[in-house]
Formats: sequence, structure tokens, C-alpha cells
Amino acid sequence: MKICYIVAMRAEAQPFIEHYGVKLLEGFFAPLPCLCYHASIQGSDLYIVLNGEQHGSDLIGCEAASVAALSAIQKIQPDLVVNSGTCGAFLSNGANIGDVYLGSGVMFHDRRVAGDDEWGTQALGNYPVWEGTADLAQRLGFKVGKVTTGSSLDMQPCDEEIIRQNHGELKDMEAAAIAFVCSLFKLPILLVKSVTDLCDSGASTYEEFSKNLALASERLREANVRIIDALV
Ligand code: ADE
Repeated sequence: MKICYIVAMRAEAQPFIEHYGVKLLEGFFAPLPCLCYHASIQGSDLYIVLNGEQHGSDLIGCEAASVAALSAIQKIQPDLVVNSGTCGAFLSNGANIGDVYLGSGVMFHDRRVAGDDEWGTQALGNYPVWEGTADLAQRLGFKVGKVTTGSSLDMQPCDEEIIRQNHGELKDMEAAAIAFVCSLFKLPILLVKSVTDLCDSGASTYEEFSKNLALASERLREANVRIIDALV
């Protein structure tokens, strides 16, 4: 089995990279900035793909996630894609900093196309997630929630309206873009999300995110090790 993780920020992947002692495959995606790490685990192949850097920082957001997902899927031909990363969540849904969720659904929350039904449907996305998600969450004791993706870290009232209308619980910047690419290839995607900030806490999102990034990334490592143990 080939499992391909796609991770936006190095900080989110580093504990996990160190845990498995994965090896960098030099030049794998050249000339793209994406990086590919690989390890063999009990006869299965684990790939960890990072979006890479531009302007001196990790590439976050939908454009970089789509490029990494398309390139990774075409070159690696994985059986399962996993997007592991941090997210915002909501106090009003009982979320806590550091909680790990598996995504029960995924859509965009900032692609506002008013009017015609088909265009509106395309804008929201609502892509399938791996059908084993609910069982895995129950078996390993993870929460589940719907992920909504947008291009900004902050949450404008128009974003919040779409998130609430669609029962979104986890706000990120990549999951729907990766799920979109997976949907084109009919490939299953598992979403593993750890909470760095609470969108309805009144605190500055950037400050909460920065303060909790290391904790949430360590929680991602713990979760992903348990998930990989369950899958291979
Ligand atoms: N990643 C971590 N926290 C986030 C938030 N509040 N919105 C979007 N992406 C995030």
C-alpha cells in the first residue's frame, strides 16, 4: 500500500518526519519547490510531501496544495492521500486547542458564486472523503468534523455565514483543494486536522496559531503514528 501525506508547513510535518526517519528523495519534484520524503513501513510505502517554500516561507493555501497534490498523485500513484495539518475550530462546537479531528466532509467557504445552482455547487465543492474515515475515528477515538477551506487565516462575517450554514467545524487553507484533485482521480482522501486556534474565542487568530503550532504539530505526530499503525 502506498500512503501519500500532503502537508503545507514544515513545522506541521517535522515531528512526524523525525519519528519515521524518512529520507528526502532529492530532486523528486524538480523544478517545483515541493519536497518528497519516503520510508518503507512493514511492506507499505509512506510518502510525506511538503509544498515547499517561496518568498522565504512555507507555501500555504490552495494554489500550492493543488500543485503538490497533482504532482504527487501523478508521480507516486498512491492508494490513499492523507492531508495532515493544523486548523481553526469553534468553542461553540466544544473544540479545544490541540484536539485532533478526522474530516467527515470537506468544502470551500470563500468561493461565493451567487445564482445558478450548478456554479454554486461547484464553488462550494463538497468533495468525498475516504469512506473508512468514520470507522477509523471511532476505533482510534478521534473526533470527526466537516472541514471548510479558504484562502485566508482570518474569518470574515461572509465566511462565517457559509461555514455555519454548512455545519463546518474545522477551518483550514488546503484540505478542499487537495480533495478536489483527489476527486478528479477518484482517489480516497483522509483529513487529519489538529486545532491551533478557536475562531470564536475573540483572540487574535495569528497569535493563537503561532502560540499553539508546536503543540498541535506534536499532536499530529501522535495521531498519524496511530493512524499509520492502523492502516498498514
Ligand atoms: N490553520 C490553522 N488555523 C487556521 C484558521 N483559523 N484558518 C485557516 N487555516 C488555519
